[in-house]
Amino acid sequence: MKITIAFVAIAGVAAIAPIHSTVLRAQQAGARSLTDGVYTEAQAKRGDEVYAQNCASCHGATLTGTEMAPPLTGTEFKANWYDLTVGDLADKIRLAMPADDPGSLKKEQVADVVAYILGVSKYPAGQTELSTDTDVLKQIKIERPKP
Ligand code: HEC
Repeated sequence: MKITIAFVAIAGVAAIAPIHSTVLRAQQAGARSLTDGVYTEAQAKRGDEVYAQNCASCHGATLTGTEMAPPLTGTEFKANWYDLTVGDLADKIRLAMPADDPGSLKKEQVADVVAYILGVSKYPAGQTELSTDTDVLKQIKIERPKP
């Protein structure tokens, strides 16, 4: 009987461990929040140009979407990214956007356009630029607003 309980307990821990370690990774010392100011004004300004040239035709000049593509701001957009990271968002853009020429942006342009998108959604600017390193960006969690 005791042995059975121990086995169930171990199996249970093993099953939840991968999810748990992902959460832990986001929470460890290096983890930052979007409200900390993770990009600079100057970077967002560069991103504005990248956006105008490569994204606005589909996502709209004000990021509110068109019949061609969904919005990149607002509650619906943000809800798609809650509990993910800025790294995931950058990866999506790096690998799949612009949809008519994926992979055409340099990693600096991807970081800049992410900074611009964050600015439009009113996340605060700060003193350090958003990194071009995906591993660093994966430490910045896109948190749900507190109820
Ligand atoms: C040719 C049209 C087109 C262009 C240009 C384009 N996109 Fe998109 N984009 C789409 C479509 C269609 C989708 C929805 C399908 C998908 O998610 O892949 C999308 C989805 C996205 C998403 C995911 C939205 C969500 O709610 O999760 C992001 C982020 C994004 N685009 C960013 C960009 C950025 C940044 C650029 C410019 C570098 C860009 N796109 C250029 C058509 C386009």
